[in-house]
Amino acid sequence: MNTRVEGVGLGLRHDLARELLERRPDEVRWLEIHPENYVARGGRFELNLEEARAHWPIVTHGLTCGVGTASPFEPSYTRELRELLEAVGAPFHSEHLCFGGVDDTFLHDLLPLPFNREAVRTAAARARELRDAIERPLAIENISYYADPLDPGGWTEPDFLLEVLDAADAALLLDVNNVYVNSLNHGFDPRAYIDRIPRERVVQIHVAGHFTGKDGVIIDTHGEPVCEGVYDLLGYTIARLGPVPVLLERDQNVPPLDDLLAEVRRLSAIYERGVAAFEAERAA
Ligand SMILES: [Fe+2]
Repeated sequence: MNTRVEGVGLGLRHDLARELLERRPDEVRWLEIHPENYVARGGRFELNLEEARAHWPIVTHGLTCGVGTASPFEPSYTRELRELLEAVGAPFHSEHLCFGGVDDTFLHDLLPLPFNREAVRTAAARARELRDAIERPLAIENISYYADPLDPGGWTEPDFLLEVLDAADAALLLDVNNVYVNSLNHGFDPRAYIDRIPRERVVQIHVAGHFTGKDGVIIDTHGEPVCEGVYDLLGYTIARLGPVPVLLERDQNVPPLDDLLAEVRRLSAIYERGVAAFEAERAA
């Protein structure tokens, strides 16, 4: 089995798991899982994961430990998370740059932080605490957001993101679809955002489809095919950053596996072209 996470991967989502594990398509190079589906779950989930591990490298992506959460994480959860990451040989673990709850109420959403110094301190503290607990590198993912984050200091989104990464000394899971969605909803140049990203911090990329409402607001649903603008921005990103593994996220409205594999092949072609452009630029 190839244990290196490279090229284009797919999420091991429950709707597709059996067919994916039976067919084991070559174009899928690695899988991403949500630990929340496995920690203290057992049953079919665990059987699927065992089969998946025998064939593909596994990367883990969390949904419930947003690093902007004000209170510390539950030690019993982070202990089980560490054990899962160890068991699957995860090279790193990722969580979102958001908060997901207030006091003891969990809101089941990825809520944006204000772009200010206090939020940087909170996110860096939680990120360091989580990395220590899981004993692995931690990557932080940029999210999509729909209201303007309160911004008394005049920071832009990449200003805030880079401050957090520096303060936490964390890696970045760069969600190219989220950059694209935010650029349209909030009016900035997505390529200028990508230009600000330090190559050495990026360990993984996400791409996904989104939904455009009648009012023009774009919602990051992970429920549609990847759009042309995101393919284009991905090509630009890989040409600039080099061979960073790319995950196709599809969590809603999941189509037949063959449709997703067609998207994976197109992403792989863009990835290969981007890497070739990156290497040509370096050799010049
Ligand atoms: Fe993402």
